[in-house]
Amino acid sequence: MNNTQGILNDHQHLDGLLRDLRVVSGWNPALFLEPSVRARLLRDLGALHARLVSHFAIEERGSYLAEIGQRRPAARPKLEKLHAEHRALLDQVEGVLNLCNASPLEGKFDRFDFQRNLLALLNALHEHERQETLLIQEVFRAP
Ligand SMILES: [Fe+2]
Ligand SMILES: [Fe+2]
Repeated sequence: MNNTQGILNDHQHLDGLLRDLRVVSGWNPALFLEPSVRARLLRDLGALHARLVSHFAIEERGSYLAEIGQRRPAARPKLEKLHAEHRALLDQVEGVLNLCNASPLEGKFDRFDFQRNLLALLNALHEHERQETLLIQEVFRAP
């Protein structure tokens, strides 16, 4: 259970990062034109990306999958589907980082498009981690 407990702890830490970004995502889009706000967003999105890379790597390590498979073979397809989402989620973070990096001075930054994509990313990550947490709790709950 150590490995899965670590993953659940990681999910709590990710929740904190996602909560902060969700607050910013609800701001008036005009604020995203401010260099200081975009600098903060770039920092937070960069931290999120780094965190996800290590989090997904831990989840994809064999022992976690093997443990779930042993306890609940029927859960394997769902777990494999969740793991298959990791690359797409990282691509989505990288896409939002690129949008955030675009220069408003050159007319390349669309604050509404950025906000839409940021919200879509936060929703996708929340849903992914929620489903994983449910699966872990279901498989490892006491009989
Ligand atoms: Fe995951
Ligand atoms: Fe996860």
